[in-house]
Amino acid sequence: MTVVTEIESEVRSYCRIWPTVFSAAQGSRLTDESGREYLDFFSGAGALNYGHNHPHLKAALLDYLEQDAVVHSLDMSTTAKRRFLERFQEVVLEPRSLDYRVQFPGPTGTNAVEAALKLARKVTGREQAISFTNAFHGMTLGALAVTGNSMKRSGAGVPLGHASVMPYCEYMEDGDTLDYLELILADSGSGVDEPAAVIVETTQGEGGLKTASDTWLQRLAGICREHGMLLIVDDIQMGCGRTGPFFSFERAGIVPDLVCLSKSLSGYGLPMAVTLIRPDLDVWEPGEHNGTFRGFNPAFVTATAALDLWEGTDLPAEVDAKAETIERVLLGMIATGADGADTRGRGLAQGLVFDDPELTSRVVAEAFDRGLIIETSGPLGEVAKLMPPIVISDADLEEGLAIFADAVSAAVAWAGK
Ligand SMILES: Cc1ncc(COP(=O)(O)O)c(C=O)c1O
Repeated sequence: MTVVTEIESEVRSYCRIWPTVFSAAQGSRLTDESGREYLDFFSGAGALNYGHNHPHLKAALLDYLEQDAVVHSLDMSTTAKRRFLERFQEVVLEPRSLDYRVQFPGPTGTNAVEAALKLARKVTGREQAISFTNAFHGMTLGALAVTGNSMKRSGAGVPLGHASVMPYCEYMEDGDTLDYLELILADSGSGVDEPAAVIVETTQGEGGLKTASDTWLQRLAGICREHGMLLIVDDIQMGCGRTGPFFSFERAGIVPDLVCLSKSLSGYGLPMAVTLIRPDLDVWEPGEHNGTFRGFNPAFVTATAALDLWEGTDLPAEVDAKAETIERVLLGMIATGADGADTRGRGLAQGLVFDDPELTSRVVAEAFDRGLIIETSGPLGEVAKLMPPIVISDADLEEGLAIFADAVSAAVAWAGK
């Protein structure tokens, strides 16, 4: 670790929480260079929904590389890009009766968000974006302006503008928070300029696993239509099956104007992002938004192979069943010792929230000592967050949950002493 602590910038974070050097990974397990195995309930912050080195994706990738096929291509046409677009249409869009143009922005989530915000401003001729309390949309300036976390925001070093924050679902204990949004939009004296767009996560992956109800999302979609604001769903962390369906908003039956996807889209941890655009909103000039790494063909290849996993299987039902197991175990833990904790999240993004964030950090450390990788979520890191691969076996899920329960007991005992 010495070279890491001496040479890598102070900005590093995960290597501080998990102080070991990882050298191999397969499925839901990581191995460090001493040979110690860890169950991975972090999944690359949602970039590894299909686990590490999935054999079907790996075979497609190795086969592609063996052929000396094109690796880098900006947005030139390649066989890999064409195949991805064909399969995305066939497997994802058509069966859901969704009609979107696919934009490849730069390869990370924040690029997909920047593209969506820029396009919404261009289409509507308005500047403001509405975001929600505890949202997380990325680190570049436009995405940071619609992100809630004060520590991340302060890193910008310049004012973050052209965005107004509204209360997320159930932010206040009483009432529907969308009453407030409607009030503000209807009041020409509210001080909020007519917004170009509303950007929302269905479950807040970084902001504490708070989840918007289906009825809240439906009402939000209606308010957007009424006020000529584009609805952007940031499905970067909750998409690609993390909460069951391919798109996390499917259950609410809403159709966003713009959708941001990244993280598990390539399925292999390779960088790739898309911004999906309602066709009539695709008013970009050629090259008006670009980026050198838009066309990373190995990611197109693994993304195409990952779509095969959605055919002939019922991944949403599998996720639902595993989610029920997690919920049952978490509720059992609350009933038998983790007093004062509460459950958060949905699907395979669930966790326990504790009053004391120090206790949550302790849970993460105790889990690591016992061979389980988990991280925290929430403005104070108060939520212990469980995000196993969505294809995890029942045996690995049970094993990881048992370790988690032990880690919570140990942390609770530590806090009580
Ligand atoms: C919901 C959401 N949006 C955007 C991002 C930013 O993605 P990236 O880190 O790839 O830029 C993240 C990353 O955690 C995210 O969870």
